[in-house]
Amino acid sequence: MAEVAKIIQEKIERYGRERKALIPILNGIVEKKNYVDNEDMICIAKALDISAADVYGTASFYSFIEDKEVGKYVIRICKSITCDMKGKHKILKALEDELRIKLGETTINKKFTLLQTNCLGLCDSGPAMLINNEPFTHLTPEKIHEIIRNYRNK
Ligand code: FES
Repeated sequence: MAEVAKIIQEKIERYGRERKALIPILNGIVEKKNYVDNEDMICIAKALDISAADVYGTASFYSFIEDKEVGKYVIRICKSITCDMKGKHKILKALEDELRIKLGETTINKKFTLLQTNCLGLCDSGPAMLINNEPFTHLTPEKIHEIIRNYRNK
């Protein structure tokens, strides 16, 4: 919580105690701990003197801001039509098998969370996914096993 308060303070010093500080604050918190929970949103609302609903509305608009705890590595597989046609289902199955979790879940050791996302703008190189901010393209089940093993060892 102290970390969150520090981020809020830093962003307010930089952007002012105004609404325009909201996105930088949300991004700062996501960079630090990968998600922004209700308690954080209430702190932000108080600090910026706006409603918690306003903070929640903004946070939930951005699909990359999670409102509950996620793993250290958040995998977002593209669920849009082109990746779907290029075999996204096989990729998802390989991820679920390798991680031993289902879509929407986090591994017990809190290392990986498996989510879907809309088009990543990498359609010509699909199927595609992101792990945190790192894109992976031309995915195959074999590549998935290799990528996850590499991340496991990080
Ligand atoms: S449809 Fe998957 S990246 Fe665009």
